[in-house]
Amino acid sequence: MSKIGDRLERMFSLEGKIILMTGAAGGIGSVLARGLSEAGGRLALCDLRGDEAEKLASGLEGSAGFEVDVLDSGSIRRCVAGVAARFGRIDVLINCAGINKREGLLDVAEETYDRIMGINLKGVFMFSQAVGRQMVGQGGGNIINIGSHNDEDMLGGCSVYGATKSGVVALTRAMAVEWAQHNIRANAISPGHILTPLTTVTWEHPTRSVWLRDRIAMRRPGKPGELVGICVMLASDASSYMTGQAYHVDGGCLCGGDPWDFDSQYKTDRSRMPLF
Ligand SMILES: NC(=O)c1ccc[n+]([C@@H]2O[C@H](COP(=O)([O-])OP(=O)(O)OC[C@H]3O[C@@H](n4cnc5c(N)ncnc54)[C@H](O)[C@@H]3O)[C@@H](O)[C@H]2O)c1
Repeated sequence: MSKIGDRLERMFSLEGKIILMTGAAGGIGSVLARGLSEAGGRLALCDLRGDEAEKLASGLEGSAGFEVDVLDSGSIRRCVAGVAARFGRIDVLINCAGINKREGLLDVAEETYDRIMGINLKGVFMFSQAVGRQMVGQGGGNIINIGSHNDEDMLGGCSVYGATKSGVVALTRAMAVEWAQHNIRANAISPGHILTPLTTVTWEHPTRSVWLRDRIAMRRPGKPGELVGICVMLASDASSYMTGQAYHVDGGCLCGGDPWDFDSQYKTDRSRMPLF
């Protein structure tokens, strides 16, 4: 391999790292899992759908699947103990499990509020606390929380979801501030509008997709695979001085948008920009 190749490999390699990911069987989690495995990581894939997590793990070298319910602190403790017993340590925790239900702020039932809060925010807190104790004991670690576009911007019908994701970013800062002394870093990845089986319907919708394309500088949804690069970087030593931040991967969605025409000598025919 060339000198550049050697250097990049040393910086970004996840060789020997044990990576625990929640929500690992989902649209984004499963793609991240494959990417992290290709970079050399060994994965503990944890999900409510334990059988799906195990199926995914069986195709990834040195990895294993675990069933967990992040709503249940006993289940979290058992899962973390099981992963630590199996692999001996946990170098990276990726909190990826998350749910949403779009409805008006006035319509949200208390059970819905509790469920979204419980999975997206309390689950991240309790999981990070359990793994954080393990990391302090082993001398360090690295946490990556999955936020969202809605942690900074708000869309109608996402009040509880947005509040949980802003909370996840606040927790990320708290972990960075309190745990740097234990050699633990914490960052968040905030995906923009990503094309997954659950969001395909929006991208095929005649008016919603136009609104989205007008707001996203790159005028297309992201692919789950486009989150892999930053995830490998944050999980690896390439990001050794990065902590306490949320990184938006959104094709320029937070920049503002471009919904109407303006004069320019340098126009591109937008209809020729890639749709997906
Ligand atoms: N898809 C997007 O466009 C998008 C955009 C921004 C942020 N996100 C965030 O990315 C993360 C993954 O989203 P996704 O699109 O892959 O969703 P997904 O529904 O495909 O995956 C979520 C996974 O979490 C698991 N899960 C749900 N409840 C659980 C529980 N109680 N305990 C353990 N696991 C549980 C599910 O079984 C599922 O495998 C979420 O945190 C989501 O908020 C997604």
